Formats: sequence, structure tokens, C-alpha cells
Amino acid sequence: MAQTKSQHRVKPPAEELYTKELSALAFNDHQPKPPGWNLSPRAVRTFILGSDGKSLSHTWQGKKTETVISEKFYGDDALIDRSVITLAGNRGLLLVGEPGTAKSMLSELLSAAISGVSTNTIQGTAGTTEDQIKYSWNFALLLSDGPSLQALVPSPLYIGLKEGKLVRFEEITRCPPEIQDSMVSILSDKVLLIPELKGDEGVLFARKGFNVIATANLRDRGVNEMSSALKRRFNFETVQPIGDKKQELKLVYDQTQRLLADAEATVELEMDVMELLVSTFHDLRVGQTEEKITLEKPTTVMSTAEAVSVGFSAGLDACYFGEGKLTGEHIARNLIGTVLKDNPEDAKKLKHYFDVVVKSRAQKSTHWEAYYKARKWLA
Ligand SMILES: Nc1ncnc2c1ncn2[C@@H]1O[C@H](COP(=O)(O)OP(=O)(O)O)[C@@H](O)[C@H]1O
Ligand SMILES: [Mg+2]
Repeated sequence: MAQTKSQHRVKPPAEELYTKELSALAFNDHQPKPPGWNLSPRAVRTFILGSDGKSLSHTWQGKKTETVISEKFYGDDALIDRSVITLAGNRGLLLVGEPGTAKSMLSELLSAAISGVSTNTIQGTAGTTEDQIKYSWNFALLLSDGPSLQALVPSPLYIGLKEGKLVRFEEITRCPPEIQDSMVSILSDKVLLIPELKGDEGVLFARKGFNVIATANLRDRGVNEMSSALKRRFNFETVQPIGDKKQELKLVYDQTQRLLADAEATVELEMDVMELLVSTFHDLRVGQTEEKITLEKPTTVMSTAEAVSVGFSAGLDACYFGEGKLTGEHIARNLIGTVLKDNPEDAKKLKHYFDVVVKSRAQKSTHWEAYYKARKWLA
């Protein structure tokens, strides 16, 4: 059932996308679990970092089967261990970092593995209200019968407290500080008061398994400060961009291929062509090339997530307007919308990259040559 449903979804939640892996892990999980958790910390770790090609035997849809757990997060393994430990403790987990470093992805994977649900999510915006964080009312019922549990509309946080599940708070620092601060007492006392309701109904104690994973972007417009009181309720983990180019290439290649397959677009992807894309992003992000040429970094974040998104658009371009084979020209054509967002200076930096770095590499490889020839699209 879940599988046919997810076939029609643009992006199924992690617990749906990876039901088989989660079932394999649960079946083989004999390690101790924190109260309220679906899996042990070790199994959560394997879910995120993969089983290294090892397959797990389990029963799936009535049949015995073998499942390999895919590697989903690339990079700092110790960060995963610390995050899992934080979630088993009394403090919330705050994942901070530049945009596109997989903070949201990690919070989704952690919630899916630990609580079996990743959609219990508050999206922080400049317009988030305290009601959206805590609870609101069905006004028709409220007016006819007065305040009651039936008239209360629970928020994701309310559900997390009540059912003992993780709550995700995306981009918490986009909320005004006074709104963020409504989390302080909940995180320290693990209780939500509903003053409109009398007696026991007016106090919601957190069930074991409840905790909060928040994410915050460091470098972005519209980001607010966080109060020290709230900071103390969280353990901070900084998620860094992927440092290793080979690893980044594998990730961008795999994810582009998966997105294209999901979009039912048949495209031939060559690793060497994807390398043009990943090198461009890596060089501009770091501000230096392998040849030790120093570059001016664009103001736009050249994140891995953006590279995947360029790879995907370039693939669609190759499928629908090309011959079904991804070339450097498709990459160049699709770079514009990512790199040239709102700062005209960035266009010059990208042009400089083509004039210096791409030009010299064009002498050694046909792919780089095609890429260099396509620079007209950047104008
Ligand atoms: N270290 C990483 N491991 C796996 N995927 C990554 C990594 N860094 C970036 N990504 C890519 O970024 C995408 C998710 O970005 P997202 O979680 O939205 O980032 P953020 O919330 O930090 O802005 C992933 O789907 C993946 O394509
Ligand atoms: Mg995010």
C-alpha cells in the first residue's frame, strides 16, 4: 500500500521511502533502545550511514529477503553518533550550518528512524505564531461548546509530546526571537500547559521518546538571533559541506540519477560529465582549484544540494531538448539559475572561472572543451 502511494508522490517522506530498510533494521535489532524509540542508537546509525554493503535478512511482505542499508549521509560519522546521543538525552538537537549541507535531510532521517515519522514538523518562518507551535482551536466547536479537548487543534509539537515522538522544527531562527522562546519552557519542563482547559486536561506531560530536532541556516537572509535561554536547551551540531571531492561526486551522481529516474526521464549520465559540475561547485566554494589557482568565491552558496539540483535540471534538459545524453553544454545552460541569483558580481566570478580554469582544462579533455564552448549560455 505504502509503495503504490509513494509512487505518485513527488517526495515521499523518509519512513515511506525506506520502509523496507527500516523493517530490516528493526527485525535485526537486538541492542538496547532508549524508551519510546523504534530502533536502538546503533540501528539508527546504520540507517543513516549504511551497512557497508552487508545485507540483513528479514521477512518482508511474507517472504524471506535480504536488504542492504544504503548510505544516506556522507561525511562526519561522529556527528551522527553525537546527534543520536543528544536525542536520547534531555536536550534538544540543533543542526546548524550553511544552506544545503543536508541538515533537513538528517533531521528527517533521524525522526524516521527513531520515531517512525518525520512529518511531525513545524516550519519556521517570519510569520510563525505561538499557536502554530503549541495548539489552536476549531472555532466552530469552541464557540458552540466552549474550550474542550475536542475543540483543540493539536500542533506537531503537541502530537510529539502526547505520543512520545520527535518533533522537527525547521529553520527555527527564521521565527522572531519571542516566538522561538515559546520553546524554552517546553524543552526544560517537558510539559505544555493549556490554560483554557481545566484540571488534568490542561496539562500535557511529554511521553518518553519526545524530543526536538531543530535546524538553522547560518548564512542566509532573514535569520534572527536566538536567545541564550533557548540556546542552553539545545546541543549544537555544525554540519559542514562535504570536503572530499570524490565523495561529493559520487553523491551528486547517485542523487541526480535517482531524481531523474523518479521523474521518469531516461538520460545517459557519464561520470566525467558530472565531474565538470562537481568541480565547478567545489572550486568556487573553496575558492581554489586543484591547480592552485585562487578564485573569488561567489556570494551564492555553492552547496552540494545546489549541485544536485543543477545536475537534475541539466538531465531534464538533455532528456527533453537534447539527445538523451548529458553533456557539458547542458550543465553550463543550467548553471545560470543557481549561481546567478541576485548578485551581478557572481556572474563575473563565474565568467572568470570559465575564462581561466575551464579554458585551460579544455585543452586536455573533450568534456571540458564542450563545457568551455558552452560558456555563451552564461552571458
Ligand atoms: N553530507 C551530505 N550527505 C548527503 N547528502 C548531502 C550532503 N550534503 C548535501 N547533501 C545534499 O543536500 C540535499 C539536502 O539538503 P537539505 O537537507 O535541504 O540541506 P539544508 O537543510 O542543510 O539546507 C540532499 O538531498 C543531498 O542531495
Ligand atoms: Mg533545510
